Amino acid sequence: MRKRIVSGMRPTGKMHLGHLLGALGNWKSLQEEYECFYFVADWHALTSEYGNAGIIRESIHDMVIDWIASGLDYEASTFFIQSEIKEHLELHLIFSMITPLPWLERNPTYKDQLRELAQKDLYTYGFLGYPVLQAADILMYKANGVPVGEDQAPHVELTREIARRFNHMYKPIFPEPATLLAPTSKLLGIDRRKMSKSYDNAIFMSDNDEDVTKKVLQMITDPQRARKKDPGDPKVCNVFSFHEMYTPEEMVKQIDHDCRTAGIGCWDCKNIMAGNLCKALAPVREKREKLAADSTLVDDIIAQGNKKAKEISSQTMVEVKEAVGL
Ligand code: TRP
Ligand code: SF4
Repeated sequence: MRKRIVSGMRPTGKMHLGHLLGALGNWKSLQEEYECFYFVADWHALTSEYGNAGIIRESIHDMVIDWIASGLDYEASTFFIQSEIKEHLELHLIFSMITPLPWLERNPTYKDQLRELAQKDLYTYGFLGYPVLQAADILMYKANGVPVGEDQAPHVELTREIARRFNHMYKPIFPEPATLLAPTSKLLGIDRRKMSKSYDNAIFMSDNDEDVTKKVLQMITDPQRARKKDPGDPKVCNVFSFHEMYTPEEMVKQIDHDCRTAGIGCWDCKNIMAGNLCKALAPVREKREKLAADSTLVDDIIAQGNKKAKEISSQTMVEVKEAVGL
């Protein structure tokens, strides 16, 4: 029996290259070794988008399309929608009874987000309980591992603590899942900050060649290189990191050399990269468009995934209630 992993993504808007190379790349690489459950975490999205729920509804279907377009295999893995499986709420509620408040208050991701998203009112009961819901998502399927980015590691740690507490207090029914960290991508947004929709610096999976090229031409390069005759340092240049990802190796070497000797200007360098990036994105976009045109296929995939998730979760809830004595 293959080990099982569970991971989710919040549908709060369009997916970008950061997702493609980060989370989705990681999910894809784990597909063969593990039995994978990937879901759209729409209730988690609601903890911050409760005033703007329309964006959640609009993003759910597109998110699954992007997963498949990026190369996730819907025959090998199970895709489902969190809010279709009401058992998650029930388990969340039960876990909320046994989770000490200080565990949630000291959570570093919670503190970071309150600071970073200061424009949103996140001093809510729901947002504090975010990791409790996440623990329910994970333990519901008795996952052995959880592929996530660094920022989510404290939530998986909390999940293990909740599992341990439940197992000790009632009956040992949950495994303690491992954190499967996604390698962090070197690619930054066009302004050199972390790529993020909220920074308005992202290249989206749905962008066409023209959008991509326009954004690449706006990218900040080596800040020390003010004029074309100044030599540049590819090591500190985000455009070069993109070259390393999308340009054939021989050419990357040449660009490295030409940049250091001021033999190439940034405008030309960016155009070369934009061309290669567009070439790499073309098949993803093509697949995306095909899937978007045939909406019943994606609906069927989701319906099947929901059904499978529902079977497992109702079974788990029987065990949980029995263990708790309900
Ligand atoms: N909190 C995760 C994120 O923002 C999304 C998520 C919700 C999740 N439930 C999960 C990830 C369960 C892994 C497992 O990225
Ligand atoms: Fe960056 Fe290319 Fe300009 Fe060098 S030439 S600084 S690698 S954009």
